Amino acid sequence: MDSPPKNGHHGENGIDGHGRRPPKKPKLVAPITPSEIATEFAHHEPSVARINNGSFGSCPSSILSAQSAWQRLFLRQPDQFYSDRLRPEILRSRHAIKDLINADDVEEVSIVDNATTAAAIVLQQSSWGFSEGRFDRGDAVVMLHCAYVKKSIHAYLHRAGAHVIEVHLPFPVRSSAEIVSEFKKALVKGRSNGRKVRLAVIDHITSMPCVVVPVKELVRICREEGVDRVFVDGAHAIGNVEIDVKDIGADFYTSNLHKWFFCPPSVAFLYTKKSGTTDLQLHHPVVSHEYGNGLADESAWIGTRDYSAQLVVPDVMDFVDRFEGGIEGIRRRNHEGVVQMGEMLVEAWKTCFGTPKEMCPSMAMVGLPACLKVLSESDSLKLRRYLRVKFGVEVPIYYRASREGEEDEEAIRITGYARISHQVYNVVEDYCRFRDAVNQLVCEGVTCEMLPDN
Ligand SMILES: Cc1ncc(COP(=O)(O)O)c(C=O)c1O
Repeated sequence: MDSPPKNGHHGENGIDGHGRRPPKKPKLVAPITPSEIATEFAHHEPSVARINNGSFGSCPSSILSAQSAWQRLFLRQPDQFYSDRLRPEILRSRHAIKDLINADDVEEVSIVDNATTAAAIVLQQSSWGFSEGRFDRGDAVVMLHCAYVKKSIHAYLHRAGAHVIEVHLPFPVRSSAEIVSEFKKALVKGRSNGRKVRLAVIDHITSMPCVVVPVKELVRICREEGVDRVFVDGAHAIGNVEIDVKDIGADFYTSNLHKWFFCPPSVAFLYTKKSGTTDLQLHHPVVSHEYGNGLADESAWIGTRDYSAQLVVPDVMDFVDRFEGGIEGIRRRNHEGVVQMGEMLVEAWKTCFGTPKEMCPSMAMVGLPACLKVLSESDSLKLRRYLRVKFGVEVPIYYRASREGEEDEEAIRITGYARISHQVYNVVEDYCRFRDAVNQLVCEGVTCEMLPDN
């Protein structure tokens, strides 16, 4: 692994000096078996039913070993690694991502630490529009009310003079049309008083509650309405839903690779659509020697640190190819699995899903029995902790306040939802443990009020 690949020749990793992979040969390896999957994730705490892949993702042992090999290679001869290996290897990962998301050009793909960093890059650029006088004070930025990067939007844009408009995400939600309708209303508001909407930030899969948002349609509407730029925050998306950045049509798109794409923490990509000079105005917030050389190069060197998580992307591609149907097969089976497990839970608890099944990715919002009385955010945190400590179940709980004028009886009754995840390592027993834990609490007449604070 020590010698760098030579230009025009495929090196020992099969990559030429430009970071390109040779065409894929037909796969000859046997598909991964259930016991091999169990071995790959044997480092997970065995006493915990981890049905929360959504928060931190997961990384198989073989990828952790590949990461460790990169770390050692760097430490063995850091100067040579820095001068000969790091850039071509990052380029190689960028090529793999480019193909995966159907970008036109590898220059459109930068690798960054996480979706939070990607958001900072985009929001920082918009904030300069205000500080450099290209935008008027009061020009609008539109986002979902539950946007994960809400605080970043406030820090970068509200502070710079933007009027921030929140789109209410209906929940429980019955169809994509409900979201589209709310979004249209917000854009009308954004344009009122002659304001311009400078940026729309749209979560592809919202975090809490978890809903697949019709991003392609919302981007189209933004274009029709003359929104300057659209940033899709797909932190949960890659490995969870299909991403075709050309088809979606946003200016910027980010996704973490450490959530649903088996990379170690932490690595994400930021896609920036080629459009004249815009890409040159995007800068990594951590500035080092590559400043001014384009976002991809700036992001590939933000000072001395561990870049190994960025280098294992090609290994992850090989890992997912061990599964029938590759990453698409994984996605499909996870979606089917989470829906099936969700059905088992709502049947047992006589509740309902928070979204139609087609708006669940590999996660689903499952209503909890109303008698548990999840009546505040603090109740949801207490219940989550109790499930972890007392029953060994790791699952996030969402509190949803009833809204004034609401007529849907089910919606009024259910104020607590669990966000269950399904990843390749999950087994039916994980969800049965959760079902039985909740049944026991119900049976014993436990309410959130009775649970310890920590
Ligand atoms: C929609 C969304 N955006 C951004 C993030 C932040 O991801 P990270 O902490 O990896 O930056 C998350 C995390 O769950 C998320 O759900």
